[in-house]
Amino acid sequence: MRMIDIIIKKREGLELTPEEIAFFIEGYTKGTIPDYQASALAMAIVFRGMTTKEISALTDRMMHSGDVIDLSLIKGIKVDKHSTGGVGDKTSLALGPLVAACGVKVAKMSGRGLGHTGGTLDKLESIPGVSVAIESKKFIKQVNDIGLAIIGQTGDLVPADKKLYALRDVTGTVESIPLIAASIMSKKLASGADTILLDVKFGSGAFMKTIEDARILARTMVDIGNALGRDTRAILTDMDQPLGRAVGNNLEVKEAIATLNGHGPEDFQELCLSAGSIMLLQAKATKTLEEGRALLLSKIKDGSGLKKLASLVKAQGGDESYIYHPEKFPVAKFHAEVYSDSDGYVRQIDALEIGESAMRLGAGRATKDDIIDMSAGIIVDKKVGEAVKKGEKLCDVYTNIESYKEILDDVRKSFKLSVTPIKLNPIVHETVQ
Ligand code: URA
Repeated sequence: MRMIDIIIKKREGLELTPEEIAFFIEGYTKGTIPDYQASALAMAIVFRGMTTKEISALTDRMMHSGDVIDLSLIKGIKVDKHSTGGVGDKTSLALGPLVAACGVKVAKMSGRGLGHTGGTLDKLESIPGVSVAIESKKFIKQVNDIGLAIIGQTGDLVPADKKLYALRDVTGTVESIPLIAASIMSKKLASGADTILLDVKFGSGAFMKTIEDARILARTMVDIGNALGRDTRAILTDMDQPLGRAVGNNLEVKEAIATLNGHGPEDFQELCLSAGSIMLLQAKATKTLEEGRALLLSKIKDGSGLKKLASLVKAQGGDESYIYHPEKFPVAKFHAEVYSDSDGYVRQIDALEIGESAMRLGAGRATKDDIIDMSAGIIVDKKVGEAVKKGEKLCDVYTNIESYKEILDDVRKSFKLSVTPIKLNPIVHETVQ
């Protein structure tokens, strides 16, 4: 078999066989297929797409390109959740503890932020002492003991994706539904959970700009997961504004804590309740979505969700007192307020622009070796739908960067106003299963 023939076949829009896909993934992971041929194939896939059969074979070969985690030593159904990436997305920090407080095992491997999107691991590490580098045995013990662990990848999980994703990132081949679906699902399947809930974001701050594309991506991933015997479902959620009000690492942890205390922003709490009630159904802990929602709400009211977050922090070496006293988190040296320059109603808060501004304020990484400022970020004051007057505050900005003033104008421009009132879209648009 020759790689050039596989590239030409896909360029002509023909279906690749599972053997050809295996040849590509194995050769590329081992290094016998060079980057230039892999990028030519990735570009052909961007233009020509892939059939369901091809996407399943690609996912399967990528999943088996490295370690596959065995979680069978954890008793009960293990649930996992994955977001396709957004701005202000601190969902795992509140949802994980809430679902675990309902008695369900949450064994979660998360990622770091890059560019305009943040990462759960960075947010967790803003709590002093927390470690996310936990080896498998301890990970399994922690989930058995307290029902919850959130860690970085252990072992050599899906090396094919590490190589291919880095290549796609620099060759304009990220935006392909088959490639995104195989990339996400190979990692989720290799992480070993029994059930997977996918939060597929759409809108300005997401990979999928339209609900139609998000629907196709969700359907593709749900079908792959179910075909391989995992209960996989998806929700399509709005990313036409940051999720909640906080964007930036310790700011988002504080918002997750507030949510577990029952004082979270409406859209964020709603996402946690919608996603959590599906996860409880998947774990067979409840019989209906309504029952799940009521159970999750009771874990906010009785404080057991917050207690579960504190247990996670303690088990992973962190200082749990920050969970009960969030005022202890360091605050950035500079604080500025951004004001509206006209009257109107907030129509959109460009999540991509807010994410990029937060990154420039120090909250994110432009390259993977950049160091994050945990206290930097933005707190949105006016969310979509709210009325605003000229001179009124749109958001607060926190940073340790002295030259921050040049960023404020870009933050202001992220708020798009309408002269007429706005009809609010629900945060969760639909469910795919
Ligand atoms: N997230 C992933 O893990 N992979 C992609 O291809 C896109 C988003």
